[in-house]
Amino acid sequence: MTRRRQIYEGKAKILYEGPEPGTIIQYFKDDATAFNAEKKGTINGKGVINNRISEHVFTRLAHIGIPTHFIRRLNMREQLVRQCEIIPIEVVVRNVAAGSISKRLGIEEGEPLPHTLIEYYYKDDALGDPLIAEEHIACFNWAGPEEMQDIASMAIRINDFMCGMFAAIDIRLIDFKLEFGRIFDGDYSRVILADEISPDGCRLWDMKTGEKLDKDRFRRDLGGESEAYQEVARRLGLLNEDN
Ligand code: C5P
Repeated sequence: MTRRRQIYEGKAKILYEGPEPGTIIQYFKDDATAFNAEKKGTINGKGVINNRISEHVFTRLAHIGIPTHFIRRLNMREQLVRQCEIIPIEVVVRNVAAGSISKRLGIEEGEPLPHTLIEYYYKDDALGDPLIAEEHIACFNWAGPEEMQDIASMAIRINDFMCGMFAAIDIRLIDFKLEFGRIFDGDYSRVILADEISPDGCRLWDMKTGEKLDKDRFRRDLGGESEAYQEVARRLGLLNEDN
């Protein structure tokens, strides 16, 4: 393979320059981190599974009209995506209390929220991705008002779609994280869904048993993380395919 220019190495992915201008290759690693990289490890085969799950979800979201950066999967661990300017906000959508909201507000894990919540976190590793209000986003101009409207409406549509997609395979979508980017066309820019959607950034509980099928297995030392990720892929019909 020809040498490629590495653009960025993150906690779970490496980005390389793509074959055509305006494209990027996302390489999915097996590395796992938690608590702002205080806990480090690997989940065997995670990169392969997340690449496949994220391809599946992004493709299905494109079918319902969500613009995304995904172009095509290249191989077991890589996908070709559109280059975009990442908006420095992590968008968390919550249906059921778990994780940081349970801790912060003293709500028992598993308690359904009165309605779906969208939270914003400032994407900054050094600061530990702090929770922010929309006022901060406006004040520091991290995203414009129209961009925020697009982000919120896409987040709700993505949540509705994903709740149904996972419910069909007996999985409860507790919460998940999204990232968005902007692409430019002359003076005009628009927001697209970027990054990945996989058990690394979602809480997925088995509908019947409540078993956790996501990165909380790693965060909380529950074991069986590879098996849990594989189970999600299997239920989505992504294993044993000729790919
Ligand atoms: O930790 P917290 O409860 O705020 O996480 C909410 C959701 O966002 C979880 O599904 C978690 O996996 C995801 N998340 C993430 N990356 C972060 C923070 C949270 O994928 N940096």
